[in-house]
Amino acid sequence: MNVNKILPILTIFCIVPLLSGAALASKEDQAEQTTLNPAQLKLGKRSFIRCQACHTLGAAEAHLTGPNLHGLFSSTAGEKEGFAYSEVLVKSQIKWTEDNMKEWLRSPFTFIPGNKMAFVGIQNDRELEALIAYLKEKTK
Ligand code: HEC
Repeated sequence: MNVNKILPILTIFCIVPLLSGAALASKEDQAEQTTLNPAQLKLGKRSFIRCQACHTLGAAEAHLTGPNLHGLFSSTAGEKEGFAYSEVLVKSQIKWTEDNMKEWLRSPFTFIPGNKMAFVGIQNDRELEALIAYLKEKTK
């Protein structure tokens, strides 16, 4: 076969996968589109790995060792249906504002002594802020 005939065919075989790859990539980007800047989203998502063994974020997802966190911000501590909270958490009457969330996640044991969330806390402020921004977005 002569090269002039093969070349256009080869070109098509190379370009089609490239184009469909690009289309897929942009779909993924859309799925991740949020008001967060990408670096913060990435850091928040990575930080949530520390929580995901015990918590889900989406609407109507299951409680695990910890309660499902959907609709968390501006809710009151310990009010999710169907989860057996500790008494101290329910009695705390804490409103989950950004500031309270920061104190809780920095040191759960000192913020609400006697609660049963087995987590040591996050000391790094940048990580803490990214995680809270991520949670705000994903629990909407
Ligand atoms: C080992 C399991 C575990 C891990 C890890 C964990 N949690 Fe929890 N979490 C719990 C439990 C259990 C409770 C309920 C505590 C209680 O009732 O005293 C809870 C409660 C909470 C609450 C209060 C919910 C409400 O409805 O008032 C928030 C917010 C929370 N966790 C966020 C997080 C975040 C964010 C992380 C990761 C940084 C995390 N937790 C890590 C088990 C866990």
